[in-house]
Amino acid sequence: MELSVIPKPASVKYTRGVFKSPGIPSIIKKEGGIDGDALSGCDAPAGCAAPEEAYQLKITKKSITLQAPSPAGMFNGEQTIRQLVMSELKDGHLVLPCAEITDYPRFSWRGFMLDCSRYFYSVPFIKNLIDVLAMHHINRFHWHLTDDQGWRLPVKEFPLLADIGSKRHDSRIPARNVTGNFYTEDEIRDVVEFAASRHTEIIPEADLPGHASAILACYPGLGCTGGPYRVEDRFGIFEDVLCAGNDHIFDLAAAVFDALCGLFPSKWVHIGGDEVLFNRWKECPKCRKRQKELKLKKTGELQSWITFRLARMLADRGKTAIGWDEILEDSPKYRLPKDTVIMSWRGNKSGIRAASGAGGLAHDVIMSPNTEGCYLDYKHINVPEEPGQIYAGASSVYMSYSMDPAPASMGKEASARILGGQGNLWSEFIYAGKIAEYMIFPRICAIAETVWTPRKEKDFEDFSRRLIVHRERLDKLGVQQYRGTLR
Ligand code: ACM
Ligand code: ZN
Repeated sequence: MELSVIPKPASVKYTRGVFKSPGIPSIIKKEGGIDGDALSGCDAPAGCAAPEEAYQLKITKKSITLQAPSPAGMFNGEQTIRQLVMSELKDGHLVLPCAEITDYPRFSWRGFMLDCSRYFYSVPFIKNLIDVLAMHHINRFHWHLTDDQGWRLPVKEFPLLADIGSKRHDSRIPARNVTGNFYTEDEIRDVVEFAASRHTEIIPEADLPGHASAILACYPGLGCTGGPYRVEDRFGIFEDVLCAGNDHIFDLAAAVFDALCGLFPSKWVHIGGDEVLFNRWKECPKCRKRQKELKLKKTGELQSWITFRLARMLADRGKTAIGWDEILEDSPKYRLPKDTVIMSWRGNKSGIRAASGAGGLAHDVIMSPNTEGCYLDYKHINVPEEPGQIYAGASSVYMSYSMDPAPASMGKEASARILGGQGNLWSEFIYAGKIAEYMIFPRICAIAETVWTPRKEKDFEDFSRRLIVHRERLDKLGVQQYRGTLR
């Protein structure tokens, strides 16, 4: 009899005998550090929270004891027990093999991103998802709150963002998206508080200066052409972005950051920065004037200048900026502040470059490569019947499992700057939470193991066997999951 848990604990040592309990057992909880020897196999990159989040679980014939140095570690241990009870409590009886589990994370950032612009997920759905993810030790929820197709964040000084920017007119998709919606401050506080109870930190994203159609529809003066603009009901990348020659875009950013800082305790704010087209800036007299004043050779360097200013505005508010890897394409004049975190999505090359300090500026990095199983909006397999996108090809559970945020080929110094990894669900092709779950599970289970379990303990065949047991847990939780081929 084996203990089947996802993600796989760092170490499980079986001892003789079994623990039996009629019903759910009481757990003896002890606060205390995990001894150094037990953590000796830890290959967590330097600076990671491994010892802080560690726990030890001792199952003897008589009792179950959980020991951890922190509430986060205790919570992680409880999630392992939760999984065991879910799968091993049968006909009212729990039977577990005696064992000693010592467990700790490989990475401190174990993330998931939900795009709530293209599809507006309800608060109960988001809370339930955070809870299920936390069962897998996923501890960062990246909340993508703004995009061309809908602005979901109330901002007092710019009230039209929520009033107008949250609504699009699209007859092809269900009514709740057509009428539009945003999360109220109370709802956001409720989600943040709930997430904290699951030891999950919420990192909000306001995507700037591209993916800005919803902003421009509300405040057309912030665009290069003056509009008219609309909240997009098409998907893709759009030429209209915030005008780099207009100082008021920073008034908007300041108001958005103030709103985010008031609602989210996280030290990080994600500023997006992906897929910014420069066509409008090339034509716009105000942008050209700005480029000349700043003595920038290329139009695209205006983005570096904007990113530099946004990061500084966040620093003034005690926050650290995270951006998609495009923000690395920087200007020699406006280098990214050193503490800016790079989220590598166009494969892992940008992330490796940022972490390695190429060009003299080393950044902390979160790996979320679309080419390696981290884009959960991609089809599970490439057949017409499957929902999802095909960009970089289908994206199997095996690919998600094989992703390594800090592969062995990466030097020690660079590995130490990898905070962890993340799966992302973009929602262009999602029109119900249940479809979202089908795209997320079980690939996120594989990613959870990749960012939690020591590399030497990973084994896809073993994972696949444990997944059979784990699927029943997801069923009990009412979570949809893809059930086809894993490779
Ligand atoms: C992205 O997928 N545009 C970050
Ligand atoms: Zn302009």
